[in-house]
Amino acid sequence: MRHDLQRKRITVAIFVVVATVAGLGGTQEPVRRWIPTQIPGGTEFAGSQACVECHANMAKQYELSPMRAALENVAEAPILRANQRLTFREGKYSFEIVRRGDQSIYTVSDGVSTISEPIFYSFGQGQAGQTYLLRYRDEYYESRVSFYREIKGLDLTIGYQGTVPRTVEEAFGRKLSRDEAAQCFACHATNSVSNSRLHPEKMMAGISCEGCHGAGVNHIRAGREGRPNKGLIFNPGRLSGDEISQEFCGSCHRSVDRIVSLNSEDGKFNVRFQPYRIFNSKCYSDDRRISCIGCHNPHEAVKHESVKKDAGHYDGKCKACHTSGQPKGEAAVKVCRVGKRDCASCHMPKVDLPGAHFRFTDHRIRIARPGDPYPN
Ligand code: HEC
Ligand code: HEC
Ligand code: HEC
Ligand code: HEC
Ligand code: HEC
Ligand code: HEC
Ligand code: HEC
Repeated sequence: MRHDLQRKRITVAIFVVVATVAGLGGTQEPVRRWIPTQIPGGTEFAGSQACVECHANMAKQYELSPMRAALENVAEAPILRANQRLTFREGKYSFEIVRRGDQSIYTVSDGVSTISEPIFYSFGQGQAGQTYLLRYRDEYYESRVSFYREIKGLDLTIGYQGTVPRTVEEAFGRKLSRDEAAQCFACHATNSVSNSRLHPEKMMAGISCEGCHGAGVNHIRAGREGRPNKGLIFNPGRLSGDEISQEFCGSCHRSVDRIVSLNSEDGKFNVRFQPYRIFNSKCYSDDRRISCIGCHNPHEAVKHESVKKDAGHYDGKCKACHTSGQPKGEAAVKVCRVGKRDCASCHMPKVDLPGAHFRFTDHRIRIARPGDPYPN
């Protein structure tokens, strides 16, 4: 952890969006605060479909984003629907997922005893794995095997490599506390948790528009009535760079504070926590050009069959700072003597995790020399 850039704890006050919309009229409260993972109980949502009417292009773009489908109902989940039978074997245990009508039945057996349950919810799009949430004897389990796009089949869930199940129940999956199960939903869906309890019946599967923008009901009503509606919905784009990365995107992608406080800094597995990784890069500051939205449009897929972004896609983002001609008044930033393009390919190296079938992009931007150890 670098000390010259120790994060100042930002209080919740930063989420106060000072809505200075003149002549709002009526009794509607301007949107003040929104943390995607802490949705106040009783919030009334319009649903993503309601946004299409006026934000059709954005809605169309977001259709392809894996965030939209970070959690899926089993009845609709395309990967489960497309696979009538998936199998996997680990030692004496056999695993099977079989489609039956609108359900997918997850079965584990050691030849003597068998556990078989319908999948409760499907998590992820299978780049780094599609993992299943299961219920058995009134407890929640994370499936021991996951589906991977790269191999178009099942393998152990990331993190389970090297563990050996002693019983069929352990092979079935990892038992989750109620709290941990609720947290999976809070990050992968919208409005699934209130008062730390899981309420799947109210949930919008995946991250809906309002998962990031807060309830849109007043915004829509005002818009339809021809009144100014801008301040009536949360726009995270108004936050500072650090707030966007650490507090907003970091509420799910895991902030530096969270990683440090959980003391889980060690090991390559933290490559998945981009806000934490980028915080420890020399490029990092409160500047929005190095915030998550400096490089990513959150409405757009990074990786999708239909999205072609070559290594050069991000060059302009780096050169926004690393150029010899900085705007007047800004500190000069160094330029590269080695490469002129495909900056990320050398300075944001890809990292293999054991059994991941996916190479993660290290957001700790740096001079990465061959043979250097992975910096924590
Ligand atoms: C009836 C039309 C209408 C609907 C429906 C609608 N919006 Fe908007 N929205 C607008 C208009 C118009 C603006 C632009 C306001 C401006 O720039 O003055 C806007 C602006 C926004 C902004 C930027 C606000 C800001 O402060 O910069 C966000 C975010 C937004 N809409 C999200 C949503 C979401 C999410 C939904 C669905 C829940 C939605 N909108 C539904 C009309 C609509
Ligand atoms: C409510 C939780 C949540 C918030 C808030 C959130 N994300 Fe995500 N994001 C996820 C999850 C979960 C996934 C994994 C989706 C999957 O693959 O199933 C993801 C995936 C992504 C991806 C990978 C997309 C791809 O095409 O592979 C990008 C990029 C991303 N998020 C950027 C952002 C940015 C930028 C922000 C802030 C503006 C943000 N996210 C805020 C939960 C969140
Ligand atoms: C703090 C928020 C958070 C929690 C809690 C969380 N996830 Fe995620 N999850 C994410 C984000 C963000 C990503 C995307 C970043 C990445 O690639 O690792 C992700 C990625 C995934 C992926 C890979 C998706 C893909 O398309 O490859 C799976 C599967 C997954 N999560 C399942 C779960 C399950 C099951 C739980 C509960 C045991 C859980 N997650 C808990 C935020 C969270
Ligand atoms: C993962 C979080 C996330 C999700 C999900 C999300 N947005 Fe956004 N949205 C943002 C952020 C961050 C910004 C600010 C972007 C910027 O300033 O560059 C933004 C900006 C906007 C704006 C105003 C900026 C503009 O270009 O007009 C509108 C309108 C909007 N979003 C609508 C939507 C709609 C509609 C959906 C669902 C289809 C949606 N958003 C889903 C994070 C999200
Ligand atoms: C300086 C540019 C830059 C910034 C800032 C940035 N990213 Fe990325 N991000 C990338 C690049 C490059 C990739 C790899 C894209 C590819 O392989 O096609 C990537 C990939 C990802 C992925 C896909 C998973 C992976 O490992 O490839 C996620 C999720 C993601 N970024 C989230 C974030 C979040 C959250 C933030 C804010 C903390 C952020 N990024 C900030 C450049 C950036
Ligand atoms: C917000 C401005 C900004 C952006 C955007 C940015 N950087 Fe930087 N970067 C800096 C600053 C400031 C430093 C440290 C001082 C210096 O080098 O002048 C730095 C340092 C570096 C270093 C030297 C690191 C070391 O350990 O010595 C590399 C390499 C680098 N950046 C590459 C990149 C690449 C590649 C991208 C795009 C993926 C990028 N930067 C995006 C501002 C930025
Ligand atoms: C082929 C790999 C490669 C590519 C492509 C590349 N770099 Fe570098 N970069 C390096 C290496 C290696 C160094 C260390 C050079 C040294 O020690 O003199 C470096 C150094 C740097 C530094 C530190 C300069 C200093 O004086 O300390 C910055 C900043 C940087 N690169 C940014 C970028 C940007 C921005 C791009 C894209 C326009 C880019 N690099 C493309 C390999 C690359």
